[in-house]
Amino acid sequence: MMDKIKEEIRITNGRYRLGYHLMTKGGWMNDPNGFSYFKGYYHMFYQYYPYASEWGPMHWGHARSVDLVHWETLPIALVPGDMESGCFSGSAVVFEDKLWLIYTGHHYIEPGDPESFYENQNLAYSEDGIHFTKYEGNPVLRMPSDNTKHFRDPKVWQEGDVFYMALGSQAADGLGRALLYRSRDLKSWEQVSVLAKAKNLKEEGYMWECPDFFRLDGADILLMSPQGLEPDGDRYRNLNQTGYLIGTLDEETHTLTHGGFREIDCGHDFYATQTILTPDGRRVMVAWMNAWDSPMYEKADGWAGALTVPRELRVVDGTIRQSPVWELKQLRQEALHDGNLECGRTYDVPRTSEVLLAVQDIGEGTLLTLTDGTHTLTLTPDHACGRFVLNRTTKDGERAAQLHELTHMTLRIYIDRSSVEIFVNDGVLTFTERIYFNADVRLTVHTGAAVGTIYALESESNQY
Ligand code: FRU
Repeated sequence: MMDKIKEEIRITNGRYRLGYHLMTKGGWMNDPNGFSYFKGYYHMFYQYYPYASEWGPMHWGHARSVDLVHWETLPIALVPGDMESGCFSGSAVVFEDKLWLIYTGHHYIEPGDPESFYENQNLAYSEDGIHFTKYEGNPVLRMPSDNTKHFRDPKVWQEGDVFYMALGSQAADGLGRALLYRSRDLKSWEQVSVLAKAKNLKEEGYMWECPDFFRLDGADILLMSPQGLEPDGDRYRNLNQTGYLIGTLDEETHTLTHGGFREIDCGHDFYATQTILTPDGRRVMVAWMNAWDSPMYEKADGWAGALTVPRELRVVDGTIRQSPVWELKQLRQEALHDGNLECGRTYDVPRTSEVLLAVQDIGEGTLLTLTDGTHTLTLTPDHACGRFVLNRTTKDGERAAQLHELTHMTLRIYIDRSSVEIFVNDGVLTFTERIYFNADVRLTVHTGAAVGTIYALESESNQY
């Protein structure tokens, strides 16, 4: 019998499509990959399955942008099948005038058993930044002997004429870790060190997915997505977490001396980050704006998943702050409101919008509500316990984080049809949420003296 020719899935309903976030033209998306800058364009790749709105054999989807805001979808960059059963997450660097992708080859061993696999690291290259060829010498890196089958998600960067790679791994003793490798040509790699390793399963996990290592504002940071952490009060409430270890790299041993693991976002829908150092020197991060345990109601409509807005990172007082990149201001259309917001009054907010607020004299009870009548998101200070609490009307809807000063704060909120990203106090805390608004949103501030601006944002900023 002839193989059925696969058809790419199509969008059947646009109700939850995002206006200015990067998503697929149809089909499944997870992690951002290969965030890079090449020949005048930012490039973003992502874990992609074009034939269903479910995870499947991983391709690399591809988009490019001149400004980090308007993205143009390009042909699929990597297709599995000839050398591996899936092209898993990885990164991209420019070398000898080519854009190189470094990705994990995921190989099934026993047909029908997804737990029976091995992983190795591979290259593909392109001269035009559109068409990619897998390197004939793949794989370029195989697993060391003190490792389990978990060996993936290479993040490569260049220092002088040396390339370094941070790689997610599970040590043979069952603990998560990040391995450090180096190379001069991307093709032959030697292990430098175990950059960092989980101190135990409960607090630091059994596998560190999507590691990323960089120096920022004088600190060395390992950003990663550990699996297997146990919930601990308000912390670690999602299936898997994303966060960082911050400290100092020992230049001799190439190991990171660091404090405890900190989550980088407090919401339900944030996972598998990747950063870029932009040509003008900013450290900019994106993440998958979902989580493996998110319901993803858009699956019914022929697609699943999106990326967060790009966020610039800074380190202040030993912790990471995030702010939406300045380029996003281009999305602003008219200001629908500018000035004081009356307590208890309802303000209409378009489904693609940005809200900037400064609130003083915050009392007890709910501070703010966003609702379309059916789906509601609230923000509530818990003065007694020094927590700031988000609630959305879903099962397990609460997420919260420590915030000591709760009587005044600033909020910057990006709303995009089925997502909300909240930046508290210039990004000291962020909450990233998928919430499936299906009508215009109404905003109410219930306590305190609020002043702010509501902007309608461009709602079709990407080309698919
Ligand atoms: C993280 C992850 C990566 C892997 C990819 C597969 O979400 O599990 O570790 O490379 O997704 O799609």
